[in-house]
Amino acid sequence: MKPREIKPGVYSVGAIDWDRRLFDSLVPLPDGTSYNSYLIKGSKKTALIDTVDPTMSDVLINNLSELEVKSVDYVVANHAEQDHSGAIPRVLEKYPEAKVVCTPKCKGILIDLLMIPEAKFVTVNDKETISLGDRTLEFIHAPWVHWPETMLTYLREDKILFPCDFFGSHLATTDLYVSDEGQVYEAAKRYYAEIMMPFRTSIQKNLEKVKDYTIDIIAPSHGPIHDRPEFILECYRSWAFDKPKNIVVLPYISMHGSTRKMVEYFVGALAQRNVTVKQFDLTVTDIGKLAMALVDAATVVIGTPTILAGPHPNVAYAAILANALRPNLKFVSIIGSYSWGGKAVEQLAGMIPNLKVEILESVLCKGFPKEANFEALDSLAATIAEKHKEHNLVS
Ligand code: FEO
Repeated sequence: MKPREIKPGVYSVGAIDWDRRLFDSLVPLPDGTSYNSYLIKGSKKTALIDTVDPTMSDVLINNLSELEVKSVDYVVANHAEQDHSGAIPRVLEKYPEAKVVCTPKCKGILIDLLMIPEAKFVTVNDKETISLGDRTLEFIHAPWVHWPETMLTYLREDKILFPCDFFGSHLATTDLYVSDEGQVYEAAKRYYAEIMMPFRTSIQKNLEKVKDYTIDIIAPSHGPIHDRPEFILECYRSWAFDKPKNIVVLPYISMHGSTRKMVEYFVGALAQRNVTVKQFDLTVTDIGKLAMALVDAATVVIGTPTILAGPHPNVAYAAILANALRPNLKFVSIIGSYSWGGKAVEQLAGMIPNLKVEILESVLCKGFPKEANFEALDSLAATIAEKHKEHNLVS
């Protein structure tokens, strides 16, 4: 993508990655992504805010050439992860006079990851400023969105916040600004669920911190720019602060149909009791969709057959993932079928130590489910509905 002007002297100079389908060799990217980088020309100094993934550094370098940038004084690294920092070495090659501006912790990580010489760095404290002449950059330390070294950059005179990953979305689009809030809501929620949710407490603190600033534009380093910042701020406030909803998430695997029969019956039993259920067959599900469902759910019920004396490996994977994502759950239970025994429940319970939940009684059946098993599922559904009601959870 060619450079585009956001305000006089402020340009978007990053790259769109239409075809990327996996991030961190883990996170699905159904809509690709972008690595946004921003150039700010002050009356005396020029700054570049974040760079791009190293695979797309040519795009950034070409954009800087197209804008006839003769020198760069500061390369601001809000975050050390390589999708934003990876092209810093290329930028420093082209502009050897440039200094890398970042938090002290970020400096250490960039030296470790990219072997940037120590002399290239200028570290900044929280709320410290750097003048570009007629423009001022203020650096806001914002640890754990989603690494420990992260900061945000605020361009005071233009009231633009550059928050890097914070408020971002994996979305490849030619729209410079958000044009379809429904589409961006989905992409931003997926991003929050996969990247930010494990750090919900830090997100809450950083949302409070951002409240002190008048913001006209939020220009993240993934996805389109927000020229109506209240939209994404309100989304984040709701995801990070709201209590969970009257929702059960039900990830499951069935090998020969017994667990599936239990799942189908149980989903009906919950729906009859006005509990919303989101059901995911783990052989086909997009784990990003599962992560998004966990943002709002109060309860997870895991459905698994017993195989090799434990849970199905795909179910174990989902449990480990949920444990890492640390959703704001209240209750967990396990249902499923076995043929001759095993430790599926004990093993799964041991995989979710991060989840501060009440473990509800499990329902396991030997072979195909029978009347007594369906009664136990009805009883579990009634318990969940009652507990959601006690906590005043709404759908
Ligand atoms: Fe977009 Fe944490 O990198």
